[in-house]
Amino acid sequence: MIRVLFVCLGNICRSPMAEAVFGHLVSEAGLLASFELDSAGTGAWHVGEKPFSGTRKVLRANNIPYEHRARQVFEAELGKWDYIIAMDATNLSNLERMGESGAELKLLLDYAPQTGVSEVPDPYYTGQFEEVYQLVEQGCRGLLAHIQQQHQL
Ligand code: 4NP
Repeated sequence: MIRVLFVCLGNICRSPMAEAVFGHLVSEAGLLASFELDSAGTGAWHVGEKPFSGTRKVLRANNIPYEHRARQVFEAELGKWDYIIAMDATNLSNLERMGESGAELKLLLDYAPQTGVSEVPDPYYTGQFEEVYQLVEQGCRGLLAHIQQQHQL
């Protein structure tokens, strides 16, 4: 089993989008049985909430199923994941400060250098969900290709 956790700040916009998009790509590749996927936030404000309306809208528009309730990432789970994928540099440094993981801990857009963008911007205040979706999709495609190569899938 390959375990992948996507992390942002609130776990209602970017990381649940990445979890859903990545899951859809994994499903299309016929690899769902090999993966455990989840997402979480470094903050606790939105615990228990559905993805934010902008994320739900862009996922629906792209026929990508989703099912997630926001939760906060906790230190004791870090060792469980093979890949911990942060949306921005603040998420990444918060995770690094939280503790040792042993996981491949990276930014999502490390897997999409062609975008020329290193962080997935927070759309909660800007409403830029379509732009975020384009970045998330490219990051997820690159991440899946990377994992497939590493695991010979
Ligand atoms: P996310 O977006 O980290 O992509 O889920 C945010 C959602 C909520 C807040 C910040 C970012 N907030 O401050 O409540």
